[in-house]
Amino acid sequence: MMTSMAAPDSKNDAAKDIPMYNFAVRGQGGKIPQAGFGTSGLKGEQCENSVFEALRCGYRLIDTALLYQNHMEVGNAVSRGVKELNLDRDDIFVVSKVAFFPPELKADSADDSTDETEKTAWMYSGGINVKGHEDEAIEKSLSELSMPYVDMFLIHNPTASIQEYSSASLPHFFELFNFKHKDGAVCPKILPNGMDTRPMILESGRNALAANINMDQAYETRKQSWKALEKAKRGGKCRYIGVSNYTRELLLEMKEYAEIMPAVNQLEYHPRFASKELVETAKELGVILIGYGAGNFIQIGASNDPNVTGEAAKKIDKVVNEISERVKKSKHQVVARWMKQQNIVPLLRSASPEHIKDNLQIYDFELSDDDMNLLDKCNEQHPYYWDNVATSMTVRHAVTKIFVNTGKHLARHGQTLAQNLGEKFNRGVAATQTMVAGLGTRSE
Ligand SMILES: NC(=O)c1ccc[n+]([C@@H]2O[C@H](COP(=O)([O-])OP(=O)(O)OC[C@H]3O[C@@H](n4cnc5c(N)ncnc54)[C@H](OP(=O)(O)O)[C@@H]3O)[C@@H](O)[C@H]2O)c1
Repeated sequence: MMTSMAAPDSKNDAAKDIPMYNFAVRGQGGKIPQAGFGTSGLKGEQCENSVFEALRCGYRLIDTALLYQNHMEVGNAVSRGVKELNLDRDDIFVVSKVAFFPPELKADSADDSTDETEKTAWMYSGGINVKGHEDEAIEKSLSELSMPYVDMFLIHNPTASIQEYSSASLPHFFELFNFKHKDGAVCPKILPNGMDTRPMILESGRNALAANINMDQAYETRKQSWKALEKAKRGGKCRYIGVSNYTRELLLEMKEYAEIMPAVNQLEYHPRFASKELVETAKELGVILIGYGAGNFIQIGASNDPNVTGEAAKKIDKVVNEISERVKKSKHQVVARWMKQQNIVPLLRSASPEHIKDNLQIYDFELSDDDMNLLDKCNEQHPYYWDNVATSMTVRHAVTKIFVNTGKHLARHGQTLAQNLGEKFNRGVAATQTMVAGLGTRSE
């Protein structure tokens, strides 16, 4: 399996097999390609052609999700890859994801459902991509892909209530949305008095979540979702199972309820958002990390729009750019290589044949320890997609630590912000301490 990639035909310019990582966790072990191709936002012919081009260039891990509404195109491209590029289906590692939305959305199998509650969550417009409906979502995904099984199913994100989902997804609405010029971006990000609205809004989301946390419900929801994936694996619907957007605390919590531990955790990872603690924990657990968002990280840093970028992003962009010029590799190759040297699978998406090919050229150079350190030092725990603090707030043993870290974060963001939020923060700490004392802690 995976070792017998057929000799490239005249249309296939894959230089070498993509190397593989081995994983071994409780209940599953196997191999996964060391680089992946993402498909979020790719649809129709552009999706099918891009995935086929990625296979032709040598990518062997293709990432999709029920959310992306492109299973059919991905399935077609894989099937074309098998026929036209002389690949075995087993040469290709197809990853999909289910259970994106929280359970209160009361999925109904009609995709055009207009139930009132469904309007309360960003992006939800009906359908079964909801926690509690994993079995149906898995069947639907396989049917759309025209595959009897995929290589891996993931839980798309850990959020277990609309409140948690709404708070955790807040980072999307700043740099990323402004960059993509989507409706709904928070604009202006920087107020005329120089204040950055992002930390304030994230903080208020966390406070709203703190006031409404139901830890038992969140725990049971995550556990139930995972049990559904374990069942899918046992039932032959996938070879392996994993999670996405899980924090260190959420991964550790899984040790309590998982008969099969996740093979991977797919999460945002780039120089501005790189949790070394999580990397260490994943390593200890034997979980492989797949990192997304590097392409958008680079475009945000290079933008001149103040709503998209900012001084910090510019400073980091300068570091990446300086290394890129010195080692004569693109910024994308530098960031992907930086991930590779941490044993993290880089997952980039592109619709450009040139970029698709370039993003894989990361095996013919090495970053020095000094360059690795320069990139490591750029970390600011600044996500563009999911607020990792909010996603950990419903994990019992994590709560006290989160409030301590939040305090440090507030202190860094200046006196005014700290004063404005100080009162709420103190209430949050008191409420948390009462909650933790009342409920006891789970052991890791
Ligand atoms: N699990 C999750 O919750 C989650 C969340 C987000 C993403 N993902 C996965 O990760 C994948 C990647 O993340 P993403 O789609 O958000 O975007 P990304 O890979 O961070 O960035 C994509 C952008 O980067 C550009 N780009 C890529 N390579 C380039 C190059 N060599 N030179 C210049 N520009 C380049 C692309 O433009 P061109 O098309 O012009 O190249 C595109 O605009 C997704 O597709 C998805 O599979 C998962």
